Amino acid sequence: MKILSLTCRSYRNLGEVRFEPRSGVNVIWGENAQGKTNLLEAMWLFTGGHSFRGAKDSELVQHEAAGTQLELGFYSEEREQSASLTIEGGRRHAQLNGIDLRSSNGLVGHFCAVIFSPEHISLVREGPANRRNFLDAALCQLKPGYVRLLNRYQHTLLQRNALLKDIPRHRELADTLPIWDARIVQDGTQIAAHRKQYLTRLSTAAAAVYNGLSHGKEQLGLVYLSTADDLAGALREGRERDIRQGFTGVGPHRDDMEILLDGSSARSYGSQGQKRSIVLALKLAEAAMLEETTGEKPVVLLDDVLSELDSSRQDYLLNHLSDCQVFITCCEPEQAQSLRGGGLYRVENGCVCPARPNPA
Ligand SMILES: Nc1ncnc2c1ncn2[C@@H]1O[C@H](COP(=O)(O)OP(=O)(O)OP(=O)(O)O)[C@@H](O)[C@H]1O
Ligand SMILES: [Mg+2]
Repeated sequence: MKILSLTCRSYRNLGEVRFEPRSGVNVIWGENAQGKTNLLEAMWLFTGGHSFRGAKDSELVQHEAAGTQLELGFYSEEREQSASLTIEGGRRHAQLNGIDLRSSNGLVGHFCAVIFSPEHISLVREGPANRRNFLDAALCQLKPGYVRLLNRYQHTLLQRNALLKDIPRHRELADTLPIWDARIVQDGTQIAAHRKQYLTRLSTAAAAVYNGLSHGKEQLGLVYLSTADDLAGALREGRERDIRQGFTGVGPHRDDMEILLDGSSARSYGSQGQKRSIVLALKLAEAAMLEETTGEKPVVLLDDVLSELDSSRQDYLLNHLSDCQVFITCCEPEQAQSLRGGGLYRVENGCVCPARPNPA
């Protein structure tokens, strides 16, 4: 998978940009607030997902502009392809190879990328929602049907929770709970099964990357933590508690992924550098899983990663990625010194232009 060209019109601070990257490593440097992350974010949108910064679509449109237009030329499945994405009046419109898609979800599985940004450290540091989102986002790229499953589950959950809140005032409504329970069980069991299956493969790949990054100093382990092995039984047993609390206390929306370093919780005991390395290992393992399934190496987007790693970890990272197309942003071109042979681009006030061919 390679990006051949990216055109942005009125995307955040990127007014008019045409960017033709190299097939190997592309270093994108510039001072703060010039548009480096925006450029990676624009590429990421073609995976069919939402902004990795959690931005609303309306925030992606340049201030004062009516809409934004993005075009991507990429090489995949042994041919050149093109995709376009417009956001206007709060709506997305996507095309793939000139054909209209019903929604931007239709891009899922055609262009694949993984993104690492400093904010992703929340994956290790914060609560389980971040880890569930990581698993779900990875599965959404792997299996287009998973998006539908997840949306349907979330919809059912909202309905069940609304019902739980009404029951104390209208006790007779409790008779309709089993209908929602059955749907929760059906979709919830599938979601948990997909996640567990994915995690088994991911943990092997992530442990191998982590081993390389840390030079074998620590062992990474990942474990799926289920709130219920028997979801139907747990819903039945928890019914009175759920009614009291007004929400559904068990199910995949409450599950977690435990991250262990040498057997102890990384969230509680890991150092800053260890947490960063874990996130990188997870992201690179995600890329390996995508490659296993699609037969293509996803594009790797690394936002601000160099300044956070010591030189041996940087070297491992760059060697490990030698045959992928990689985009790395940084504030000082010197940070990318070990990247000989890559392309170097400068982002300045929303414009992208080639800089010196080799970092000094
Ligand atoms: N919708 C928008 N319209 C216009 N400008 C925007 C919009 N959204 C964000 N910006 C601006 O884009 C600029 C560049 O943001 P970006 O996050 O890409 O910077 P960066 O080069 O990655 O900087 P840093 O090195 O600090 O991470 C910011 O100044 C931000 O205010
Ligand atoms: Mg940035």
